[in-house]
Amino acid sequence: MNPSQKLLKLLREVKRICVLTGAGISAESGIPTFRSEDGIWKKFKPEELASMDAFLKNSELVWEWYQMRRKVVREAEPNAGHLALVELEKSCPSFTLVTQNVDGLHRRAGNSNILELHGNIERSYCIECHFEENDPEEARLKCLKCGGKMRPGVVWFGEALPETTFLEAERAASDCELFFCIGTSAVVFPAAALPEIAQRNGAYLVEVNLEPTELTPLCDESFHGKAGEILPKLLSSDFL
Ligand code: OAD
Ligand code: ZN
Repeated sequence: MNPSQKLLKLLREVKRICVLTGAGISAESGIPTFRSEDGIWKKFKPEELASMDAFLKNSELVWEWYQMRRKVVREAEPNAGHLALVELEKSCPSFTLVTQNVDGLHRRAGNSNILELHGNIERSYCIECHFEENDPEEARLKCLKCGGKMRPGVVWFGEALPETTFLEAERAASDCELFFCIGTSAVVFPAAALPEIAQRNGAYLVEVNLEPTELTPLCDESFHGKAGEILPKLLSSDFL
């Protein structure tokens, strides 16, 4: 890998950094991505599992699927890519980590300014009375308060993103000087609009991904390889 002098200078000097992550950053923690050969959406159809219609038709199946994913997430540990972003946050006066991931690994790694665009798999809430359960160990399909159905606290197909969270993400993207897009296929909107918003407002756009994506042509600089290897190297003192 061969970062430009411009990027190294920016990493040393900029005050405002925004990072967008996707499933790829958690791949090395053993959490399957969505669109790769062995990705989640190759095995399951989104409309059969990740939508309100599916949940209303077949709540138990959907609930079981999320319980299975909760277990995978619980057993996973943050990897070197997550940890590099913790160091980046420490070194930067204004740092925003926008993630499409629902696995909570950025928080467990130690980042603090995190915007979860697609919710969090550990949370669940009742579709009738909105009672909320944040402890995944206590997650159950039937609401303790009213007997209604509890759903996972994630954003499903056909649903809007949490409004204030997205507005904050848009603000961070437009205000930053350096924007990183890490481990995302960048095809799911509106999250995929953030890199462009950042660049339009003058940010330097950098991608880290296993392979070229639809975003690559737009980027000022792209690194192809594993986030868990590239990020620690890029942010190491050997370079900076
Ligand atoms: P995808 O599965 O679409 O993309 C994962 C990306 O990570 C791909 O571009 C891979 O090349 C890349 N990748 C895989 N392993 C990597 C590694 N070790 N290091 C770096 N990159 C790696 O996942 P997302 O872009 O996150 O939405 O998908 C976006 C949204 O689509 C998800 O949040 C989910 C899904 O439907 C909802 O559930 C609402
Ligand atoms: Zn309830």
